[in-house]
Amino acid sequence: MAITHSVFQNIVITGASSGIGAALAGFYARPGTELGLIGRDPARLHAVANQARAAGAAAQEGLLDLRDRDALALFLTRFDAVHPIDLLIANAGVLDGRRADGTIENADAARRVIEINLLGAIDTLHAVLPGMRRRRRGHIVLVSSLAALSASPDAPAYSASKAGLLSYGRALRAAVADENVRISVVCPGYVTSAMTDTHIGEQPLKISADKAARLIGAGVERNKAVIGFPLPLYVLSLISPLVPQALVRIATKGIRFHVVPRN
Ligand SMILES: NC(=O)c1ccc[n+]([C@@H]2O[C@H](COP(=O)([O-])OP(=O)(O)OC[C@H]3O[C@@H](n4cnc5c(N)ncnc54)[C@H](OP(=O)(O)O)[C@@H]3O)[C@@H](O)[C@H]2O)c1
Repeated sequence: MAITHSVFQNIVITGASSGIGAALAGFYARPGTELGLIGRDPARLHAVANQARAAGAAAQEGLLDLRDRDALALFLTRFDAVHPIDLLIANAGVLDGRRADGTIENADAARRVIEINLLGAIDTLHAVLPGMRRRRRGHIVLVSSLAALSASPDAPAYSASKAGLLSYGRALRAAVADENVRISVVCPGYVTSAMTDTHIGEQPLKISADKAARLIGAGVERNKAVIGFPLPLYVLSLISPLVPQALVRIATKGIRFHVVPRN
């Protein structure tokens, strides 16, 4: 029997306290929906949860750092036991990279980005995947980036973390397809958020977080393997590995950037 995925009831979103994650919480909040919202900042997470409640959803707040694997697994398994998760959006992430003085990231900064963006997302999905496989139902969405397709010289670890996530998601999609568990990877371009506030440089074709949430929702609805946007940058990112790198460097000169990390 065909499973209808269009109405998700029990939804977990990581990185829900800000930006795209907060917008996704708003997008999916409706009466009858149980949301598990994960983030680190108590005030912002609470505000997003209250907005979801005002829209008629029930919301649980998971105030935790993804790198605390025990706390992460405890929240997810407890939530899943009462509200079997049918949509997981592993969205939490951080950006680091070249600094204003031109220096590239050091080993500690690179490790932190990989730990949160790649390992944190993998830990998140593996806490939820066994239940979905057992139930033969569920959709996991991994928020990567166009940097996964076209690596940025200004953010090597960020690019690597997002390429790793894209590759992991593609492989997993094929691995669990027969079990009726769906995997999609999102590759956004520039989206207005606290993250892009720290990105000092041109941000062509930037869209709002609400628009990004709608595009992600539409892509999930169609069970797309990769949800890439905006289209012109997605297409350019897809073809950039096929173009000689010297040419890519010239073409992308206008979008070089540095990062001013948040406190
Ligand atoms: N904005 C863009 O242009 C863009 C483009 C491509 C991809 N993306 C990806 O989209 C995702 C969302 O980014 P955004 O733009 O919405 O950025 P954002 O506004 O900075 O939000 C990032 C979210 O991730 C959470 N987070 C970060 N580290 C965490 C950790 N260790 N444990 C738990 N939560 C953590 C943050 O929680 P707290 O704020 O509570 O600490 C926040 O809720 C990221 O994966 C990002 O790489 C963004």
